[in-house]
Amino acid sequence: MHIKSAEFVMSNSDVAKCPKNKLPEYAFIGRSNVGKSSLINMLMQRKSLAKTSGRPGKTQLINHFLINKNWYLVDLPGYGYARVSKKAKKTFQKFITNYFEKRKQLVSAFVLVDCRHEPQPIDLEFMQYLGEGQIPFSIIFTKGDKLKPNALTRNIEAYKTKLLEQWEEIPNYFITSSTNAMGRDELLGYIGEINQS
Ligand code: GTP
Ligand code: MG
Repeated sequence: MHIKSAEFVMSNSDVAKCPKNKLPEYAFIGRSNVGKSSLINMLMQRKSLAKTSGRPGKTQLINHFLINKNWYLVDLPGYGYARVSKKAKKTFQKFITNYFEKRKQLVSAFVLVDCRHEPQPIDLEFMQYLGEGQIPFSIIFTKGDKLKPNALTRNIEAYKTKLLEQWEEIPNYFITSSTNAMGRDELLGYIGEINQS
């Protein structure tokens, strides 16, 4: 898919205030600091369309970006960030789950996991939650530039083995890097195909 335009539309914490039109949308979710906002910038080839930070907890709201004037990318706050106060954490969880449960325009979620780490319970639980709600999702292994090819393959195989304890089939997945654009064509191609079908 060729990206002709990418514009920030709005940020808010209330799913009822998200854009009202029926354009299809795709949401990025995952632990704080996994690289959700960086991936959006990489896909859109824009340095700072979505705000990124080395410190976890940067994205705190539901952020809509309108792409090619006909679909939305949604950047969400990370989950599992221990340093946010308990009260704030609860609020995040509620508005994030509200988003997934109420947003009819959501076509698919992308659950981002850091390719360097072993499968984390919080990510597996989030995938379970999506599965139970019949919310389609793919997995994105991020920061692919941080591992040598052999280590990357090994980690992904280990992740798949773990997933098979929970799922009958391995969910659709992508491997990306926001520093070298690994996975960009595959991911945009996938979204383009769904949008056309
Ligand atoms: P929150 O908004 O806090 O939940 O984080 P996020 O998931 O949006 O992560 P963000 O995109 O802000 O990136 C977190 C850190 O990881 C930043 O320092 C990025 O530069 C770095 N990072 C993200 N993606 C990659 C990648 O593909 N490769 C490398 N080497 N670093 C990355
Ligand atoms: Mg972010």
